[in-house]
Amino acid sequence: MNNNLILIGFMGSGKTTIGKQLSREMGRPIVDTDSLIEEKQGRAISEIFAAEGEACFRQLETECLRELLSGGNNQIIATGGGLPMREENRSLLKQLGRVIYLKASVTEVLKRLAGDTTRPLLAGSDFAEKTKVLLEQREPVYEEAADIVIDTTTKDVNGIIEEIMEACV
Ligand code: S3P
Repeated sequence: MNNNLILIGFMGSGKTTIGKQLSREMGRPIVDTDSLIEEKQGRAISEIFAAEGEACFRQLETECLRELLSGGNNQIIATGGGLPMREENRSLLKQLGRVIYLKASVTEVLKRLAGDTTRPLLAGSDFAEKTKVLLEQREPVYEEAADIVIDTTTKDVNGIIEEIMEACV
């Protein structure tokens, strides 16, 4: 049985920040699917999107989850915001361990992502509208994929960590 803790949620929901802090608090290693893909491909996510397109990146995400399944256990796994959208990925996530959805309101996400230039899906004009539409599409899927839902909107990092630790005892 795999005993990883997996963080899912929209871009800007705090998966990387919370993941790093959780890793320190729990003494478990942290891995991040975006970073693993970038390391393996030797280029940034935005370059992979530009050169190969989104479909290629989505395939790399699935391959990354398969590799994690045959790898370490008891890890904190932070994921890319679009990763749970593939049904196969949701099934792989369930096999990997407990799935925690870090939920945040659209207003909060917009605040956290303001000025960001690293997310190809939100690049260009209509940033706020694109974010709103994508978040609405994804929310039910995140809920479906999750074992635990944590609303992060009005909480600070310590409050979120505390809630995760309580939910995971
Ligand atoms: C994406 C989210 C990004 C990254 C890629 C696509 C998405 O990760 O995987 O830009 O589809 O939501 P973060 O959620 O860590 O920003």
